[in-house]
Amino acid sequence: MTTDPTGAPHRIAVVAAELALTGARVDAVRADLTTPDGLQALVEAVHAVGRPVDVLVLNAGVANGGAFLDTPLEDDLAVVALDVVAPVHLAKRLVPPMVERGGGRVLVTWSVAATMPGPYYATYAAAKAFGLSFAQALRHELRRTGVTVTALLPGPTDTAFFAAGRMQGTRLARGPKDDPARVARDAGAGARRTRHPRGTPACARTRGTGPAR
Ligand SMILES: NC(=O)c1ccc[n+]([C@@H]2O[C@H](COP(=O)([O-])OP(=O)(O)OC[C@H]3O[C@@H](n4cnc5c(N)ncnc54)[C@H](OP(=O)(O)O)[C@@H]3O)[C@@H](O)[C@H]2O)c1
Repeated sequence: MTTDPTGAPHRIAVVAAELALTGARVDAVRADLTTPDGLQALVEAVHAVGRPVDVLVLNAGVANGGAFLDTPLEDDLAVVALDVVAPVHLAKRLVPPMVERGGGRVLVTWSVAATMPGPYYATYAAAKAFGLSFAQALRHELRRTGVTVTALLPGPTDTAFFAAGRMQGTRLARGPKDDPARVARDAGAGARRTRHPRGTPACARTRGTGPAR
């Protein structure tokens, strides 16, 4: 079991153990997806399962709150690495076998921030805008392959996101938030509903957002 620096089981190990109680096989992998090694480790772990990917969920993401003039460059680049480079890398490596098999579903978590300028989390909103455009284009390209692409655009949701992005004090973080379980259910339902060739990518839009301060 993977552990955190204190020796306690890491969150992913705890969740994997809970899911395994349903009788499903669960393989938990910890990988830093901001690094080429982490991306490679995850792709190898997927291949090691020895079964095709039916549903690919690209969900990992971080924000980086603050004025662009103040945020450390390494934090800005980490947002780009996790929210832009990693999903492109994983889609490039894992979607082609789904197309070869002629079926599957791709669900990507972007954000309602993708649809508007994002002052005070500029790199995050720009990264999500990239992702939404990428998903819409990929969906079109895959329209005759049997592989669907669904973009989830949550509004503020009650997770560790705001703390992880150092945005706890912001108006956005203090405002109303959606229940993550409900957002996850909407996402699953949206991905199941997505059909080709008609319709727009299913988006579970929740609350609106705005400048992150
Ligand atoms: N919460 C919101 O208000 C909101 C709104 C719109 C969109 N979103 C998007 O929703 C997605 C999920 O975020 P969340 O709200 O559930 O926040 P969260 O609780 O902070 O979860 C972030 C997830 O990303 C993973 N992650 C962070 N850094 C990583 C790294 N370097 N390598 C691999 N995985 C990493 C985390 O894994 P660990 O637990 O191992 O750190 C965690 O599973 C993100 O893409 C986020 O941008 C969130």
